[in-house]
Amino acid sequence: MKRMFVALDLPLGLRERIFSSPGFDKGKYSGISWVSPENMHLTLKFLGDVPEEKVKAISDALARIASHHRPVGVSYGGFGRFGRGGSAGAIWLGASDRSGKLAALAGDIEGSLEGLGFAREGRPFSPHLTVCRVREGSNLPSWEEIRPLFNDVREDVLHEGFSLYESELTPRGPIYTRAGWFGFKRD
Ligand code: 2AM
Repeated sequence: MKRMFVALDLPLGLRERIFSSPGFDKGKYSGISWVSPENMHLTLKFLGDVPEEKVKAISDALARIASHHRPVGVSYGGFGRFGRGGSAGAIWLGASDRSGKLAALAGDIEGSLEGLGFAREGRPFSPHLTVCRVREGSNLPSWEEIRPLFNDVREDVLHEGFSLYESELTPRGPIYTRAGWFGFKRD
């Protein structure tokens, strides 16, 4: 089995700028796990465990979908959080899909992979870049305390394709390896 997901890649410069604020201190809060810039992406579909023999069919399906979509523009910027109360479950940089093309792409991927046996997401597609995850526990910093730690990077990105990633969970964090890249049609 391989743990896999489908995602959009972001320019590394954009990802690094989020964490280049003078107040950013990775070690300050033990309850926060920061996503490293190298690992940051916009998830289109999380597949979970994938039998090896299905990877080819998934790649073929993704290539077919990419060939039916033109490059997708996404406006990044603005922070928000998933979670309850004063502490955050996860903090993310927003991804705005004004044209609706991103949601259409995610919907096509969802529909096509459902045909290959991958269950639909129970919740609506909510594009975001996770910046950090805050673990349950005592002495969690408040949102107001965390928020100034990183830069609100505002940038428009024209995505030319998307990737299929394999994710290996290790005690030192996940290792993501690209298993395929699928370019959109250009004409
Ligand atoms: P997240 O950033 O919102 O946590 C690889 O794990 C990627 O797949 C992460 O970016 C994660 O999104 C996303 N993902 C979506 N659903 C997931 C799930 N049920 N378990 C783990 N990761 C999931």
